[in-house]
Amino acid sequence: MNVYDSERMAEALSRDGYRETTDIAQADLVILNTCHIREKAAEKVYSDLGRIRDVKDARKRDGKETVIAVAGCVAQAEGREITTRQPAVNLVIGPQSYHRLPELIARTETTKERIVETEFPGDEKFERMKTPRRVSSPSAFLTVQEGCDKFCTFCVVPYTRGAEFSRPLAKLEAEARELTAAGARELVLLGQNVNAYHGEGPGGRSVGLAELIRSLANIDGVERIRYMTSHPRDMDDDLIAAHADVPQLMPFLHLPVQSGSDRMLAAMNRKHTAAEYIDLIARVRAARPDIALSSDFIVGFPGETDQDAEDTLALVRAVGFAQAFSFKYSPRPGTPASSLEDQVPEDVKSERLQRLQALLDEQQSDFNSRCLGDVVPVLFERRGRQPGEFVGRTPYLQLVHAAADGDLVGRMANVAVTDVRRLSLSGVVQSGVIAAA
Ligand code: 5AD
Ligand code: SF4
Repeated sequence: MNVYDSERMAEALSRDGYRETTDIAQADLVILNTCHIREKAAEKVYSDLGRIRDVKDARKRDGKETVIAVAGCVAQAEGREITTRQPAVNLVIGPQSYHRLPELIARTETTKERIVETEFPGDEKFERMKTPRRVSSPSAFLTVQEGCDKFCTFCVVPYTRGAEFSRPLAKLEAEARELTAAGARELVLLGQNVNAYHGEGPGGRSVGLAELIRSLANIDGVERIRYMTSHPRDMDDDLIAAHADVPQLMPFLHLPVQSGSDRMLAAMNRKHTAAEYIDLIARVRAARPDIALSSDFIVGFPGETDQDAEDTLALVRAVGFAQAFSFKYSPRPGTPASSLEDQVPEDVKSERLQRLQALLDEQQSDFNSRCLGDVVPVLFERRGRQPGEFVGRTPYLQLVHAAADGDLVGRMANVAVTDVRRLSLSGVVQSGVIAAA
């Protein structure tokens, strides 16, 4: 979501003549787009700001001004605290106010005032960020939903991103057409709780994620569709069916479970049990047997016992994941879990994380190994580090490296998988690039 937001901010500012640079010493404006989900990410903001202030000071000695803006969820959560802790910051802007970014930057430049903008003006943001979409990769993000009403007890998202909001179907179709016209072949539908999508459809009727996917699949040039991130409670039958009958919908599902212990799931307010999750996965697999599964896990939630940690390992063994993200529980200010008494010691969290990651790594290697010798369609997204090397993704979201004489970026090609590592595959491009539909 932050990558998408950063792209949109760059697009909006390009109207005022801004261009992106990779050299911070050249930058008249630096926007730090921040994440508040775990303490480590949030604390990094202040050390990064210290370094950016040094650049600003050095540029000042050369007679150049630098505007520093802090965006994202740390901006939303900490607001004025940021300008107090780092006075070199000119603008603090929360995710719901990005449509006002160009105007606020212009204002801080002319009046020199420090601005903190963390209002929740509701749904006007998308309406007012109307700059034409640029496409830097054949795989393009499309935000369909924002915010979350689930209130998992560990999570800041409902506080920083606000209540659930779904964009209307017609607007998403229009943006998807713009993206394909600009060269996108894959759409990644984004939302903090994307499968809770319920946008306004024809005649004011409410449309779910499955219907949205079916509509987007009808647009010329949309060859691949993905979505993330989902909640198990919102995985309805229609969405499961879409995995069976929409060919463009890729066989990959990121469905965070967080824990395999019912006691922990209840304390986390996840509103489902381990058995319900496993049953849900069985139904998804019945619809799409080859689907690659992904999840998020939290170890060391307050009160987690050795047995609870074992239950999580048992769930992982029962499901079998193609990839997953796992984190140590990080207490976040203002969330219910942060004030629970029985916090788990750091060394216990580390040990449990290590065991979980060892098992998940093994499953990822196994999943990739099963592709050895297969021929898979790969959408190439960028050049690799080696000359003549290109990097793309399989339908199962695995990274693939392959060499070619011409330019493969933006092309779909069949690749015979010849080498398999845990994090990527390599292979040989088969003759006959698959042309755009
Ligand atoms: N501590 C650790 N991990 C967290 N996540 C969300 N909040 C926390 C927290 N307080 C993880 C969850 C979520 C992912 C995006 O980040 O696993 O699914
Ligand atoms: Fe956070 Fe996801 Fe739970 Fe919403 S569903 S509160 S975003 S972990």
